[in-house]
Amino acid sequence: MEKLWGGRFQKDTDELMEDFNSSIAFDSKLYAYDIEGSIAHAKMLGSTAIIEMSESKSIIDGLKEIKEDIEAGKVEFSKKHEDIHMNIEFLLIEKIGDTGKKLHTARSRNDQVALDLRLYARDSVMDLMELTKNWMKVLTDLAEENLYTIMPGYTHLQRAQPISFAHNLMAYAEMAKRDYQRLENWLKIHNIMPLGSGALAGTTFPIDREMTAGLLGFDGPCMNSLDGVSDRDYIIDLLSAASTAMMHMSRLCEEIILWSSQEFSFIELDDAYSTGSSMMPQKKNPDAAELVRGKTGRVYGDLVSILTTMKGIPLAYNKDMQEDKECLFDGVDTWSKCLVIMTAMMKTIKICKDNMLEASKGGFTNATDLADYLVKKGLAFRDAHKITGEIVFDCIKNNISLDEFPLEKYKSYSQLIEEDIYDEIDVRHCVQYRNSIGGPSVNQVQISIENIREKYLK
Ligand code: ARG
Repeated sequence: MEKLWGGRFQKDTDELMEDFNSSIAFDSKLYAYDIEGSIAHAKMLGSTAIIEMSESKSIIDGLKEIKEDIEAGKVEFSKKHEDIHMNIEFLLIEKIGDTGKKLHTARSRNDQVALDLRLYARDSVMDLMELTKNWMKVLTDLAEENLYTIMPGYTHLQRAQPISFAHNLMAYAEMAKRDYQRLENWLKIHNIMPLGSGALAGTTFPIDREMTAGLLGFDGPCMNSLDGVSDRDYIIDLLSAASTAMMHMSRLCEEIILWSSQEFSFIELDDAYSTGSSMMPQKKNPDAAELVRGKTGRVYGDLVSILTTMKGIPLAYNKDMQEDKECLFDGVDTWSKCLVIMTAMMKTIKICKDNMLEASKGGFTNATDLADYLVKKGLAFRDAHKITGEIVFDCIKNNISLDEFPLEKYKSYSQLIEEDIYDEIDVRHCVQYRNSIGGPSVNQVQISIENIREKYLK
């Protein structure tokens, strides 16, 4: 079969080479973008009289039919035509004859691949924005239901201070908000059209890049043809955003795995999102959370893959860049699937409020509140910290909590302590009194829920 670029060649490509060189096995995913780009290009070629209007029309009709044929499963792509761009061009020539050979006027495959991938990335960004919104919604809804659910907050995985479950969830909603903003920024920076860059140095034909940019919904054409065909920073930025968002979900997954262990028993995952063991009949494992944690590493791999591919290649296009696609597709698919499963899983978790409350009472999570109490009565914080530390040590020796420590013993450490201390160190009050901006009090968490709803979920 004669190659579309075969003129200069005396020999056929070796089959091994054909196999190694071809990208159709994965870039067929871009068919709709390739056709969309070609239709815009053909319209422009017609309207600038680079080809006849009638030729432009027959190319466009042919491309539309090819799209229908592909979607009806009537088309089998061939490795012989290397990639999606040449497969479609070949199909077009087969369908409409010699006019089809005019489509590639003033255009290069380097142009096409840069355009197709950018269109794919832009669509993916918009889908991911929707999925991230759904994710924010489930987090904020669950937070609203748990404004009064007290749990211990941790540092070093040691009980630290009491917070609410809502506050913990809203930390992840804030992260998801920034994940969303990173996608918004992507659109601001990267909605620029490479088409018209040619192979590397534009074209001698009087093309109208403003027109194609408008037809394809871009903010405008890129301003340097070498840059247009050869940078893949928009893939790097998207995979970087994916890596950060995956890292955020992975941290929550780590907490979910801990919380659903018998040692914590803070939550129970729904049966529908857990799995059993082939040997141990009692097991109910948090596989969805573990998989998201595991897939985070895979998405980092996608990012490192494209960064490494790009780091040493001279301008402009080099075939190394054919390696840009699988990591992008994988990163986008993985991030999307993880957002969907996390949203579904969190919607169905059961929260064991009593266990959370009980745990927040252990581990002296209210010790800071005792120290703060002494400060409010006039002690310097460092002195209050020292006295509180001594009281905690005394409690540990006697195996009791601060709430159980008798008043006269408190008084032996400081005469400033009165009966009202017990109210002050009640973990529920400890949470409510933390009413500084961004704190865990019901009031503050409600403000953060409202902010996210107002700006992103309306
Ligand atoms: N299949 C190629 C890719 O994915 C398309 C561009 C080919 N360009 C070229 N000059 N060989 O990068």
